[in-house]
Amino acid sequence: MRTIQLGTSPLQVPVVAVGCMRINSLTPAEAERFLQTSLEQGANFFDHADVYGGGKCEEIFAEAIHMNDDIREKIIIQSKCGIRQGMFDFSKEHILNAVDGSLKRLKTDYLDILLLHRPDALVEPEEVAEAFDALERSGKVRYFGVSNQKPMQIELLKKFVKQPIVTNQLQLSITNATMISNGINVNMENESAVDRDGSILDYCRLHDITIQPWSPFQYGFFEGVFLGNEKFPELNQTIDEIAARYGVSNTTIAIAWLLRHPAKMQPVIGTMNTTRLVDSCKAADIYLTREEWYAIYRAAGNILP
Ligand SMILES: NC(=O)c1ccc[n+]([C@@H]2O[C@H](COP(=O)([O-])OP(=O)(O)OC[C@H]3O[C@@H](n4cnc5c(N)ncnc54)[C@H](OP(=O)(O)O)[C@@H]3O)[C@@H](O)[C@H]2O)c1
Repeated sequence: MRTIQLGTSPLQVPVVAVGCMRINSLTPAEAERFLQTSLEQGANFFDHADVYGGGKCEEIFAEAIHMNDDIREKIIIQSKCGIRQGMFDFSKEHILNAVDGSLKRLKTDYLDILLLHRPDALVEPEEVAEAFDALERSGKVRYFGVSNQKPMQIELLKKFVKQPIVTNQLQLSITNATMISNGINVNMENESAVDRDGSILDYCRLHDITIQPWSPFQYGFFEGVFLGNEKFPELNQTIDEIAARYGVSNTTIAIAWLLRHPAKMQPVIGTMNTTRLVDSCKAADIYLTREEWYAIYRAAGNILP
């Protein structure tokens, strides 16, 4: 699969990342087959979090991939920490404990990348810096990133954290594209002009932070899948027409739309269906025209001034 550089790190990563949040919906045999298919596709980048399935997802993954030293060096593992029941927690103590828990469940000595999962209102960036230093020194984590963070939150971290922030995982799909539409509707008196995220898209491009779009097939906040959904007739008609043109499925086009953006994003897919996994990976080889990209943007109800 085509690769990109992850932020300013030396890591070359496949353009499609495999999200493991839903892997606990599979039987052990299904999980094994799913991960085998991923590897066959060159999709060797796996996204985790300590909270997925209450920790079960990391365990199921390690079992299903038959984790050992040989496998470990062929894959890239990213996990996240900072979400706790009823709160967010970026304290040094919590970050260090969370990583130890993930390493144990994943049966590995190190994470390639650790992300802070969701902004903690009580963050003490000095503590985050101490935690990152300790994790880097001990070799438990190689690279660091964030998720769901605005530019100023990243700037605050950067005042103390010396490791580069290599990625920012953000909710982004064709039907959830405010970070794109507000850049198109600058200064207009319409809803799309509202800048909800402090121009995070431009900020990440300026600072070489790879955006990892999460929930690339969902609309709303886990409300459902827009593909084949009668709530989005125009969007599906447009996607289907373009899919037919390229001889691929609608799944491929949904991911190709994200990959066409020059920010060089790495979508994190959440499907546990091997056909949809393979179709998502095919997007790495599709380059939509400008006309096709904007047609899909508009068909989803996103507006141009
Ligand atoms: N950083 C964060 O805050 C955050 C938040 C959420 C998720 N994530 C990460 O992002 C990954 C992806 O998130 P996600 O799972 O919500 O994203 P997603 O890929 O948009 O959604 C996957 C879900 O949609 C279903 N689906 C996809 N295409 C379909 C179709 N054409 N027809 C019917 N069902 C379809 C899948 O079912 P099938 O399995 O049957 O295909 C699966 O249940 C997660 O695994 C996780 O790693 C991060």
